[in-house]
Amino acid sequence: MKGLGVFDLSGRVACITGAASGIGEAAAETLAAAGAAVVLGDIDGEGAARTRDRIVDGGGRAVAKSVDTTQAEQVSALVAAATDEFGRLDVMANVAGVGSYGDVVDVSEAELDRVLAINFKGVFFGCQAAMRVMVPQGSGSIINVSATAINTPVGGLSVYAATKAAVAMLTQSLAVEAGPIGIRVNTIAPGFTLTNFVGGHLRDSEGNVDAVEMDSYLKLMRDRSPLGEVCEASDQANLIWFLASDASRFVTGQILRANAGQSITW
Ligand SMILES: NC(=O)c1ccc[n+]([C@@H]2O[C@H](COP(=O)([O-])OP(=O)(O)OC[C@H]3O[C@@H](n4cnc5c(N)ncnc54)[C@H](O)[C@@H]3O)[C@@H](O)[C@H]2O)c1
Repeated sequence: MKGLGVFDLSGRVACITGAASGIGEAAAETLAAAGAAVVLGDIDGEGAARTRDRIVDGGGRAVAKSVDTTQAEQVSALVAAATDEFGRLDVMANVAGVGSYGDVVDVSEAELDRVLAINFKGVFFGCQAAMRVMVPQGSGSIINVSATAINTPVGGLSVYAATKAAVAMLTQSLAVEAGPIGIRVNTIAPGFTLTNFVGGHLRDSEGNVDAVEMDSYLKLMRDRSPLGEVCEASDQANLIWFLASDASRFVTGQILRANAGQSITW
C-alpha cells in the first residue's frame, strides 16, 4: 500500500463545525493533512479563521465562516461554501456542542432551550444541509458527535446526556434512510477529552479554572480508565478521520467510543 491508502482524503471535501477549538479544530487539521479541502464553521469566527490560516500556511486548502449552528440558514450557508468553493461535499462533521450542568429540579427553561438548540438542533440542521448535497451526489459520510455520557446516567448531566442520546438516535435513524443512497452516518461518543470544554463546571464567575480542582478532576477521570489515561482532541480527530475515509466504508449507524475505556459497553 502506498501513502495513506484507504485513509487518503485527496480530492474530498469536508465541512466541520466547532472548528475553532478542541475536537473540531483537531479534526480540521487531521482531515486537511490527509488531503481533504476543509470548510470550517464556528460561532467563534475568529477562532475558525485561525484554524484555517494554520492549515493554509501548511499547504492545505481551507475556508472558514462564522456560523451559529442553531440557525438552519447559517448551516446551509456553511455547506453552500463547500460546494461553491470546492464543488462537492464528501464529509460533514457536526462537532459543535456545549456542556450543561445542573440537577433536573434546577435547570431553567432557557438553559434547556439553549442546550437543545446547540447540541441537537444544530446537529440536525447539519445532517439536513449535508443530505441536500449528498443525496444528488449519491455519496458521503456524516459524522456526528455524541458523548460517553449516554452510557451511564450521572446526576447533574441530564440535559447534556439527553441531547447526546438524541444525537445517537438521530445518527442511527438517518443511517437507515441514507444507506440506500450510498451515504454513511455515524457518531463518535468521546469520553473525557482535554479541550476547552473540560472544566466548564469547574470555572468561577470570571471563567478561571482552579488548578487544584482541575488536577483532582483529571485524577478522577484517569482512575475511571483501565488505561489510566484521558483522551486528547487528536484521539477523537483520528476516529473522525477513520469515519471520513474509505477505511470505514462498511461502517454506518454506529456509535464509536474513544473513551480510554471509561465506559465499556456492547
Ligand atoms: N471534551 C470532552 O470531554 C467531550 C466529551 C464528550 C463529548 N464532547 C463533545 O465534543 C464536541 C466538541 O467539544 P470540544 O471538547 O472540542 O469543546 P470545545 O469547547 O473545545 O469546542 C466546541 C466548539 O463549538 C463551538 N460552538 C459552540 N456553540 C456553537 C454554535 N451554536 N455554533 C457554532 N459553533 C459553536 C465553540 O465555539 C467551540 O469552538 C461537543 O459536541 C462536545 O459535546 C466533548
